[in-house]
Amino acid sequence: MTRKVLLLPGDGIGPEIIAQAARLLEACQKAGLDIDVDEAPVGGSAFDAHGEPLPAATLEKARAADAVLLGAVGGPQWDALEDRSRRPEQGLLGLRKHLGLFGNLRPALLYPQLAEASSLKPELVSGLDIMIVRELTGGIYFGQPRGIEARDGQRLGYNTYVYTEAEIERIGRVAFAMAQKRGKKLCSVDKANVLEVTMLWREVMERLAPEYPDVELSHMYVDNAAMQLVRAPKQFDVVVTGNMFGDILSDAAAMLTGSIGMLPSASLNESGQGMYEPCHGSAPDIAGKNMANPLAMMLSVAMMLRYSLDENAMAKRIEAAVGSVLDDGLRTADIAADSAEAVGTDAMGDAVLEAFSRRL
Ligand code: NAI
Ligand code: MG
Repeated sequence: MTRKVLLLPGDGIGPEIIAQAARLLEACQKAGLDIDVDEAPVGGSAFDAHGEPLPAATLEKARAADAVLLGAVGGPQWDALEDRSRRPEQGLLGLRKHLGLFGNLRPALLYPQLAEASSLKPELVSGLDIMIVRELTGGIYFGQPRGIEARDGQRLGYNTYVYTEAEIERIGRVAFAMAQKRGKKLCSVDKANVLEVTMLWREVMERLAPEYPDVELSHMYVDNAAMQLVRAPKQFDVVVTGNMFGDILSDAAAMLTGSIGMLPSASLNESGQGMYEPCHGSAPDIAGKNMANPLAMMLSVAMMLRYSLDENAMAKRIEAAVGSVLDDGLRTADIAADSAEAVGTDAMGDAVLEAFSRRL
């Protein structure tokens, strides 16, 4: 059956890196992948053209797709927009919400060729390969009631940290299944010594554990997890946590690998449909200069093949192609030791395509 992939270029460097992803998809099609590829506007450029960051037609196409590849959204030209509902990031948040993308997979994988780029000593990070599974549609970012109001003569702000058992269970299952496919270790991060909602979180993880007897489950308080991530990150395999802790820990873990230009991500819903995007933003400072590193975007294509299209072999071939261009010494400016020797977005894309096709 022909599956549908939707490209959402977005803003800033988004269109430049999506162009490389599109070429990679063409190479995959030549290698036998049966997909239809379509494109739609999102973010600030969608606002400029259609008056809203997530046009109804874009959402319609996204719903119908098996997988969505998103470049990035946002930029200074839209920062002054008064109406928050029309800001570029609402395109992204709207997609997450409407597609029910509750399971955010954020790998922190260090390519050995780039060990020098890490903020930690090479021996602490060489071989690092962590998968952070973050709950994305619940928790304190969405809990009700919330607000800022005046009480007893002063203003106060409040949010509600809430998870239902069902929400915890479904993200738990994603994480246990992920651990089964990887190193068989799952660390659940909470603050169960203080927060009731995470006491329930811990209880649910414990309840699921017997169904995954080959996975070793451990628990860690979030403050300790932050410390362990920078002290001895290689102790982790899969980490599962809620929305806010996951937001913070996944950014910290990302930096262990040195470059934001190398990091893909996936957001999945219950039917396996997913949105795939680099972890970085629209990088307005380098947009239009053929300087963006396209590898996070191209590795997002690999994640899409693995998690939404069940094409693991082809995903591995993309990852191997990326490894081989790094072996060959190719570096965009963000990962180059000597910026004078950096290659551009197009040249990096060419090299990955060439390496991918050589592996046919
Ligand atoms: P950013 O990730 O866009 O840029 C941070 C720094 O990393 C910049 O110096 C940039 O040049 C560099 N960088 C990012 N991606 C790169 C790549 N592929 N290759 C080489 N260098 C790269 O984050 P920033 O500056 O905080 O945000 C810029 C805009 O992006 C804002 O409008 C923000 O709202 C938006 N944003 C969008 C996200 C998304 O679409 N998922 C995520 C984060 C930010
Ligand atoms: Mg973040």
